[in-house]
Amino acid sequence: MEMETTSQFKALDERYVMPAFSRDMAIVKGEGSTVWDAEGKAYLDCVAGIAVCSTGHCHPAVVKAICDQAHQLIHCSNLYYVPHQGDLAKKLVEITGMHKAFFSNSGAEAMDGALKLARVRTGKKKFVAFTHGFHGRTVGSLAVTHKPAIREPFEPLGVIKTFVEYGDLDALKKVVDKDTAGVIFEPIQGEAGVIIPPDSFIEGIREICDDAGALMIADEVQTGMGRTGKWLAMQHTKVQADIVTLAKGIASGFPMGALVAREDLEFKKSEHGSTFAGGPLACAAALATIDVIEKILPDVTRKGERFGKGLAAYNPRIRGLMIGMTIGDICPGVQKTCAAQGVLVNCAADGNLRLVPPLVIMDAEIDRVVGVINGALGKVVL
Ligand SMILES: Cc1ncc(COP(=O)(O)O)c(C=O)c1O
Repeated sequence: MEMETTSQFKALDERYVMPAFSRDMAIVKGEGSTVWDAEGKAYLDCVAGIAVCSTGHCHPAVVKAICDQAHQLIHCSNLYYVPHQGDLAKKLVEITGMHKAFFSNSGAEAMDGALKLARVRTGKKKFVAFTHGFHGRTVGSLAVTHKPAIREPFEPLGVIKTFVEYGDLDALKKVVDKDTAGVIFEPIQGEAGVIIPPDSFIEGIREICDDAGALMIADEVQTGMGRTGKWLAMQHTKVQADIVTLAKGIASGFPMGALVAREDLEFKKSEHGSTFAGGPLACAAALATIDVIEKILPDVTRKGERFGKGLAAYNPRIRGLMIGMTIGDICPGVQKTCAAQGVLVNCAADGNLRLVPPLVIMDAEIDRVVGVINGALGKVVL
């Protein structure tokens, strides 16, 4: 088969694909922390499919798990017990400290499930979420996503919600009441540019939820599965949420999401479902992914600190391998310059450069990334 060039990708994309995305590169191959474009240029990948490819690209154990399962059974639906699904649910329960799991196909769907679960088990209808929070683009998850530019054109979205300034516990206290089903938050805001709140904020949400009888719903789609150096970002605090949503890094790029919930919170028969969710391939990929992450997790914080040392001049915000730094309007230019030098980074909201590399990234690769970023920013620090 002849390989397509970037301009061939572009021509087909422009003619046949709805223009919801802006892109100018074609990534066609990956291995470890490196990806290659259609012309064969290599890049160290600190985007990792947006915090997804934590085990690196095409980790042999994940590839093998998917291929082995594909030879056995690709799909059977949730009308039957699904190979690997129970094992994966058990593993997720063990690493998150929650009670049971429910599977979805994406992070947005995991949030939709959390909204439904909170509604049906509390019998309440109101939610509170935070400014700059991102929870997905489906109708339900978009309703609790703050960014007006992406949400408002689609309102009304059928979810009763109030937004409160991220970090403002006094404002939260004023709006959470006996009719609130849940408070939805990211323990670290990812799309907003890696905004890390003090532990007291997370503890305060717990207290306010407990006082009002509302559920605490932690969106760990981006922060979960080892990204911050622990299985959950919440595990950096003493607080446990009532519902946790997961996706992104859970299956190394095979589409999957999940929610895990505390003991008395579960869907009853027919309350929720999905044809593909928790399918055999996704579960096999996730089990292999967790196996790999278990081995590399102890090193994630140290690797983040190595980035931190190299980028110290820019006051980076770092928790494990979730790194953000505010560089303002030059962010798109820096992203482009880094790509030209063979390093992929990404601009999150408000001029925040975000690095979410594979957790398997090696020290020499970190040093090269840091050198390229410093060069792009015009100050070689290393
Ligand atoms: C915190 C958070 N929640 C939910 C989502 C939505 O996940 P998905 O894109 O898999 O639907 C994202 C995606 O960026 C996210 O960062």
